[in-house]
Amino acid sequence: MASALAAAPGDVKEGIQGYVPTAEAAAAKEQFRDDKFGVFIHWGVYSMLARGEWVMFNEKIPYKEYSKLPGGFYPSKFDADRWVAQIKASGAKYITITSRHHDGFSMFDTKASDYDIIDASPFKRDVLKELADACHRQGIKLNFYYSLLDWGRDDYPRDPAIAHTDKEREMYAKYLDFMCAQITELLTNYGPIGCIWFDGDWAKIKKPAPGEQIKIDFDWGYERIYSLIHSLQPSCLVGNNHHRVPIPGEDIQIFERDIPGENQAGYGRTSHVSTELALETCKTLNKSWGYDIKDENWKSVPELIRILLATSGRNANLLLNVGPQPDGCIPEESVVRLAEMGKWLSANGETIFGTRATMLKPQPWGVLTHKEGKIYLHVMEAPEGGVITLPFKLKAKKVKEFATGAPLKFKKTKKDFTVTVPSGIDCTIDYIIEIDL
Ligand code: GLC
Repeated sequence: MASALAAAPGDVKEGIQGYVPTAEAAAAKEQFRDDKFGVFIHWGVYSMLARGEWVMFNEKIPYKEYSKLPGGFYPSKFDADRWVAQIKASGAKYITITSRHHDGFSMFDTKASDYDIIDASPFKRDVLKELADACHRQGIKLNFYYSLLDWGRDDYPRDPAIAHTDKEREMYAKYLDFMCAQITELLTNYGPIGCIWFDGDWAKIKKPAPGEQIKIDFDWGYERIYSLIHSLQPSCLVGNNHHRVPIPGEDIQIFERDIPGENQAGYGRTSHVSTELALETCKTLNKSWGYDIKDENWKSVPELIRILLATSGRNANLLLNVGPQPDGCIPEESVVRLAEMGKWLSANGETIFGTRATMLKPQPWGVLTHKEGKIYLHVMEAPEGGVITLPFKLKAKKVKEFATGAPLKFKKTKKDFTVTVPSGIDCTIDYIIEIDL
């Protein structure tokens, strides 16, 4: 593992050589690619302060004080079945929820710590268990976000002064045991889990000087963690939001707030986009992950669907976040947007779900998706001259407007394929053309 870590960072060569996913994991990865759309849930005791999940760190709240929050955590309106129904209405195929965020509070019944919802809150209900049961009842997959970083525990080596010392290694060995115990619980007590989604790796990456390559000089023990996951549930995928080149044992490459290949959010430490791993972009509905009472920067429904088109056209999934309130309800603004996305997907989902990107990269007019016998052109800007040219030979039988089935004019030549797009098309979201092969 150490050598693979050393070879990977900043290097466009993927460091996953040697990792051969099991048949179960390979099948789960294809299924994950088919799923295309999931809903992220950031929920923890931080939601009570209503200023996002980083509030403790950002406002330098002493852990001693912060850790009193769970004593008042009683989300009286929490109803897992309602959450799942609201999320399913969006068309999403999976849910990824924070089991334990950087504040270290476990939102599930863990024997590895008392700082959890059962021992430290009056609510005393395992919300992950209730959610898992509701997901299984209503037929949607469940994934767990898990923070590698911890702002409170004594054994998490936070102090940079002890970096690379025996003290750091000793502390981390204990902390790693704790994480493995929790991961074992998460993969034993909640039924089949689709993915463990790690976050926080970047906490141990020193900011490189301009022009310098990033240096990974902390050993998280991923070999142990990843093989534990794959042995407990062979079809459970591993994703890590480390913003760098994938390493062995990972099945999903994650892009935070960016579509693969772009780095507008500034988190990406590599421009590398894996062709081996499944891809996933996570985005917020407003600007925040955890509930933020002042954040009214809600994205519009067309904007959200166009993000889904952008990810689908790049072979990636979209994981769209909701931040439930302290009372346990998903904010109404989110519920409404999810429902609208669901309406669009119930009419147009067959052009998204189960598709893959084509070899033709996103174009100025939009993106392409394809599945057995079909290519879909998602026209997001009216093409110049009213014509779309695909620069390859295509044996098409029929070309039609997806919404109405009305035939569209097309021309095949030896080297390309052109479709005439009607004038005045509505590209508020997209105009879909279906090509039957
Ligand atoms: C970042 C943040 C974290 C959030 C995550 C979601 O890594 O630290 O708060 O959970 O992104 O992508």
